[in-house]
Amino acid sequence: MLKVENLESGYGSMQVLWQPSIEVKRGAITSLLGPNGVGKSTLLWTILGSVEPWRGSITYEREDVTRLPAHKKVDLGITLVPEGKHLFVEMTVHENLVMGAYRKEALKSMDESLALVYTLFPVLKERAKQKAGSLSGGEQQMVTIARALMTKPTLIMLDEPSQGLAPKLVGEVFATVEKLKAEIGLTILLVEQNAEAALNASDYVYIMHEGTIKAEGTSEKIRKSHEIREAYLGI
Ligand SMILES: Nc1ncnc2c1ncn2[C@@H]1O[C@H](COP(=O)(O)OP(=O)(O)O)[C@@H](O)[C@H]1O
Ligand SMILES: [Mg+2]
Repeated sequence: MLKVENLESGYGSMQVLWQPSIEVKRGAITSLLGPNGVGKSTLLWTILGSVEPWRGSITYEREDVTRLPAHKKVDLGITLVPEGKHLFVEMTVHENLVMGAYRKEALKSMDESLALVYTLFPVLKERAKQKAGSLSGGEQQMVTIARALMTKPTLIMLDEPSQGLAPKLVGEVFATVEKLKAEIGLTILLVEQNAEAALNASDYVYIMHEGTIKAEGTSEKIRKSHEIREAYLGI
């Protein structure tokens, strides 16, 4: 569905991406793992088009989208849930979700999207009238993901959704991610530092280091490779 080849980008004169290549298959959970500062978020922002690609190519549904600006990519069904929660804490859960449907197309199908989100996450329906800031950390992360669903994406990129959550809540977030795949067949590109949990949830895994891909394989293969786990994941 998405193919990134030899991508290069960075900030000012500082190059961050050194030709990583990845492929995201339809309906699968693909994970991008690696320590802090190696360029995982930059790769997502460059795929979306908020960071401009210098060289290399991005193909989505067989179309060359390398130079397409972010809002056009969103129109094609690509969405990014950035690091951190970025919720409107003083607004209700319902209001936060409505804010997600800002595109014209999404506005038209708002009721349908809301129904879907509330069916997927019944707890958000119960909390619909509560201020988002009053929810638990895990529930707030659920709201950010649900809000992204309001754009009716076909590919969702999640940047460290379990970051900063208590271990007990990490499981909830991963259950949410797996639900998106199982129940609505969403294609997911997941960036995580929680390698263990990500390996369990993913179909395919890329390991990033210093702006490029150092290892890749099915999660089965990565889990079994002591070499890769030791060298890159520290688990
Ligand atoms: N907006 C930015 N402006 C300048 N440098 C940035 C910006 N965002 C990230 N960087 C730098 O790019 C490098 C890669 O960062 P990032 O993509 O956030 O890594 P990761 O997500 O793997 O932790 C780091 O050296 C970071 O300091
Ligand atoms: Mg990051």
